[in-house]
Amino acid sequence: MKSEKILIIGSQGQIGLELTTELRTIYGEDNVIASDVKRPTEVSGLFEELDVMNKQKFADILKKHGVTQVYLLAALLSATAEQNPRLAWDLNMEGLFNVLNAAKEGIIKKVYWPSSIAVFGPSTPKKMTPQYTIMEPNTIYGISKQAGERYCEYYHQKHGVDVRSIRYPGLIGYKSAPGGGTTDYAVHIYHEALKQGTYECFLSADTELPMMYMHDALKATIGLMESTAEKVKIRSSYNVAGMSFNPQQVADEIAKHIPNFTVTYKPDFRQKIADSWPQSINDEEARSHWGWKPDFNLAQMTTDMLENLKKKTTSV
Ligand code: SER
Repeated sequence: MKSEKILIIGSQGQIGLELTTELRTIYGEDNVIASDVKRPTEVSGLFEELDVMNKQKFADILKKHGVTQVYLLAALLSATAEQNPRLAWDLNMEGLFNVLNAAKEGIIKKVYWPSSIAVFGPSTPKKMTPQYTIMEPNTIYGISKQAGERYCEYYHQKHGVDVRSIRYPGLIGYKSAPGGGTTDYAVHIYHEALKQGTYECFLSADTELPMMYMHDALKATIGLMESTAEKVKIRSSYNVAGMSFNPQQVADEIAKHIPNFTVTYKPDFRQKIADSWPQSINDEEARSHWGWKPDFNLAQMTTDMLENLKKKTTSV
């Protein structure tokens, strides 16, 4: 067992819930502390109530548990951030400062912070978007992520902070629910296909976006964090790709399993956000630097999602 003490901030979110379980399997139950703003009704394992903007409480928790690594997952996502830009900025940036500063002071040794495809904007090349390209995000979420990326690189270069990051595409999993993102439809569509046999999509049928199965997101995250420091050559954030599809394509794939499945389209404000993002991602740096490679395509993910969601509903 490795002698790390890991703090996950935002453990109740879509990624946090799954990452906590995965890290506990690798590092041991007692070495992974989950934290979130609110204590969940059912707590399994070590848990601390923490608002990452509360610097003192954060410092106390680091000390109490002798934390060596922090995964900072607390954030407002793209759609929610547009509804509350001030809170989004404060949470997304201040949380990061508190964590980076703790690393700068040598209190923690390694930081994981997620960025997003939202760092790209309408002037970015849409297909096979490269690691280095025009970035003019026009959502508050994207602006906060881009600023965050610059801060991560700055803290690495200036203060030697070992910070690592991935630009997540839309994430899809059966264990946890997404919250407030523009790509959330790609999770809801599976639930509704099984429950109702129909789904009303808030993006248009041909809106292609980069996506990734949660299995691959965890693989990328842990793979990057476990790489030797020399391999992590990019300290802003890495492009990673899983798959790309539009709502029509995922609906067609689901219909192979649920033949009468129908989808209607009613784009809302999230359409504009989606239209500002890339359609597909070039992740050659992540592949060559630290050996990234996804396992799931759309067909494999759809089979796995539906199988597991069915199991979940029958076991309740
Ligand atoms: N899934 C996120 C969102 O839609 C993108 O990082 O906000």
